[in-house]
Amino acid sequence: MVSSSSEQTIVHNKTVVIGVSGGIAAYKIPELVRRLRKAGAEVRVVMTEHAQHFVTPLTFQTVSNNPVITEMFAPMMTADVAHISLADKADLVVVAPATANVIAKFAHGLAEDFLSTTVLATKAPVLLAPAMNVNMYTNSVTQENLQTLKARGFYVVGPDKGELACGWEGTGRMSEVEDILHDITMIMGPNDLKEEKILVTAGPTQEPIDPVRFVSNRSSGKMGYALAQAAATRGAEVTLITGPASLDPPQRIKTIPVFTATEMYQETLKRYKAMTTVIMAAAVSDYRPAQQAHNKIKKENDSFTLKLVRNPDILWEMGRDKGSCFIVGFAAETENLLKNARGKLTAKNVDLMVANDVTKPGAGFDSETNIVTLLTPDGAPEEIAKASKELIAQRILDKIMAIKANRRG
Ligand code: CTP
Repeated sequence: MVSSSSEQTIVHNKTVVIGVSGGIAAYKIPELVRRLRKAGAEVRVVMTEHAQHFVTPLTFQTVSNNPVITEMFAPMMTADVAHISLADKADLVVVAPATANVIAKFAHGLAEDFLSTTVLATKAPVLLAPAMNVNMYTNSVTQENLQTLKARGFYVVGPDKGELACGWEGTGRMSEVEDILHDITMIMGPNDLKEEKILVTAGPTQEPIDPVRFVSNRSSGKMGYALAQAAATRGAEVTLITGPASLDPPQRIKTIPVFTATEMYQETLKRYKAMTTVIMAAAVSDYRPAQQAHNKIKKENDSFTLKLVRNPDILWEMGRDKGSCFIVGFAAETENLLKNARGKLTAKNVDLMVANDVTKPGAGFDSETNIVTLLTPDGAPEEIAKASKELIAQRILDKIMAIKANRRG
């Protein structure tokens, strides 16, 4: 899921023109408009004549809090919404649903209604969310039109496969609002991490005692997931290795689920050298039961002793042979924050340590917010005051990019 916070930082104060053409999927678009407005965007809706058979202009006027444009030459048209000025004002034009008909018009440069005129006149990026019958979609004319538009720099999201309104099964369903929002944030985002291949680890690990019990910790995975999502939104190619976390898997991020520290070790060690950056946000269990019982252990005595053995230290292993990979560690502490975190920074040979006093209210495990201090081998500590994990993630990524830029000179 695209976090509302990444939408917020990216679309805030931006003008998004939503073009709605005539398909049943138009009923999903008021939700898209609502989400964009909630994130601070100025939303202007343009409807084709056919679109108005599916959703009324009043619905869009209400959710966008702006007049809706339905005609090319409306008598009440003010200067700021006349087609050329709206095309100029737009930071992004999204056409959703985009029917085969409007796609054909855009591909051939027709300007016969307000929407096609705006798309022809705008210099802003255009995102199309096609929706149509499967045969119309697979028809070579539509495919060629889409290819033409892509070659000219149009963005296309979907369509998805599934049950279509016409009763057919196949490709032609408009993408879900969440996917459209994801692409909007990708297109409008700073894209400053597009050269980066980032591996993020997240969540706790679970070390089985028997088939029903395990040793673990309180990590929720939120910090690591926020980092993975923020990096992907800024254009990085992200791989997420996650211990068991009860969070929705982030969309369009290669996600590798693991349970134990040993599995996390294996998955991380075989991948990290191909990465530009590794962020070890996972709370890895330092120990695992020496033996895992095949059957549920029965309570037989008054006391029970569990023998634990050390797990491999993944970060330490990477730090001793890191090549050109930039390595970020997390230090979860309950006392002597800076001293302990600096000790780990040196011992594990990392480039950046995110130190975290997990006892502070609003910080650490399972909290929506965090308070961290960034430590580097040579610089002064930088404290980031309490903020959402999404914003902290952005600041950590900013710091990584700043150090890298500095090293390049
Ligand atoms: N880490 C790791 N492998 C382990 C333990 C920790 O890669 N077996 C990583 C964590 O992902 C984190 C960093 O090392 O990025 C520090 O983890 P932390 O739990 O704070 O410290 P430990 O090194 O485990 O030390 P201690 O538990 O003694 O504080």
